[in-house]
Amino acid sequence: MAKSCVLGLIVFATIIFSMFSVLSAFQYKVGDADGWRQPDDDNREMYETWAGNINFHINDSILFVYKNDSAIEVSKPDYYHCNETAGAVAPKDGSTLFTLDKPGFYYFISGNLDHCNRGQRLMIEVPDPASKSKINAANSLSVLGFGILCINLLMLLLI
Ligand SMILES: *[C@@H]1O[C@H](CO)[C@@H](O)[C@H](O)[C@H]1NC(C)=O
Ligand SMILES: *[C@@H]1O[C@H](CO)[C@@H](O)[C@H](O)[C@H]1NC(C)=O
Ligand SMILES: *[C@@H]1O[C@H](CO)[C@@H](O)[C@H](O)[C@H]1NC(C)=O
Repeated sequence: MAKSCVLGLIVFATIIFSMFSVLSAFQYKVGDADGWRQPDDDNREMYETWAGNINFHINDSILFVYKNDSAIEVSKPDYYHCNETAGAVAPKDGSTLFTLDKPGFYYFISGNLDHCNRGQRLMIEVPDPASKSKINAANSLSVLGFGILCINLLMLLLI
């Protein structure tokens, strides 16, 4: 019983922590140390993989850092077609910051058609908190109840 209580307390602490982390916005560097570049041929999904490991929230921001390249936000069809004419910009060294200020999908590509075709593109989904908040609230309440129960039981055991 004590063991499952400890486990319950850990879950409890994690939920509380994640409730707080939702409130603060993070800035992510796209590709981490790799930055924003044409992926290697054996790893064309590098930006899919990168985005898949992150839970984005409203007001998080993403920073593209590139050399002789560009990062442009495009529509869904332009993302899938690597339509660089949708926002053609001259390649340069630099960085571009985008804020994910509303829920939904965001699409980014390199302004270089060849780079985009080789996988230098990024799709991000920011979930709508409204569609999940009911479940979250219910979960948090039941975990809260379990946490309090556990604290009581642990105190009984200690007495
Ligand atoms: C996002 O930031 C804007 C402007 O700072 C603020 O008004 C809004 O409440 C924030 N939204 C969330 C979900 O934090
Ligand atoms: C920069 O990119 C352009 C277009 O891809 C290319 O033609 C040019 O050679 C590149 N310049 C350098 C210095 O790499
Ligand atoms: C590419 O983008 C341009 C400009 O937005 C648009 O006119 C054209 O229809 C797009 N082409 C495709 C294949 O989506």
